[in-house]
Amino acid sequence: MSITLAFDVYGTLIDTQGVLTALETVVAGDATTFSNTWREKQLEYTFRRGLMQHYVDFATCTRQALDYTCAFYGEELSAQQKKLLLNSYQTLPAFDDVQEGLARLKKKNATLYAFSNGSKQAVEQLLDNAGIGHFFAGVVSCNEIQSFKPNPAVYSYFLRQASSYNNATWLISSNPFDVIGAISSGWRAAWLQRSTAAVFDPWDIPPTATVSSLIGLCEVLD
Ligand code: 2OP
Repeated sequence: MSITLAFDVYGTLIDTQGVLTALETVVAGDATTFSNTWREKQLEYTFRRGLMQHYVDFATCTRQALDYTCAFYGEELSAQQKKLLLNSYQTLPAFDDVQEGLARLKKKNATLYAFSNGSKQAVEQLLDNAGIGHFFAGVVSCNEIQSFKPNPAVYSYFLRQASSYNNATWLISSNPFDVIGAISSGWRAAWLQRSTAAVFDPWDIPPTATVSSLIGLCEVLD
């Protein structure tokens, strides 16, 4: 049976900590702490926007989260420096296991999609910059229905776009909120635990599988 694999992008295929290099050149404080706050606030804004039904695109959430983080840490960045940081979000690197993992998965009876909050154009550019865009049949963006993960509507939208159905579709994500959202929509979902320090939310909705790399995912799907 052919299966559809929906890959989350930021933090799963693409290492958002890739902005650290740029951050270290412009922030006075600890770049890792700044980056973590920026990422957490970016996601918080998507959740709040979704709940409020007051949509703005993911790039706006990212920009506004950067403004918040600068104010929170008292970092006075120029418009040019902020532009540098936001542009670095378009050239983030893929994790080391992604090239080999996607190549091995593509040889299976599987169709691969990127599935993200990011706009289709931004994600296509990001994946091409990272050298992995060619592995995917397409990019499905939550932007197209003006909402964010884990709204159940985005998982239904993906199935329509990928001409797939829930029990033949796997989500692969490093974000527990995304994994729980997909499973709650009837999908299978693998939690890609990118850090041993990462904790899966104790909601009694466990991942179908937990892997530490895309290579491990190949073994689960065999
Ligand atoms: C995504 O790519 C936010 O990582 C999440 O949609």
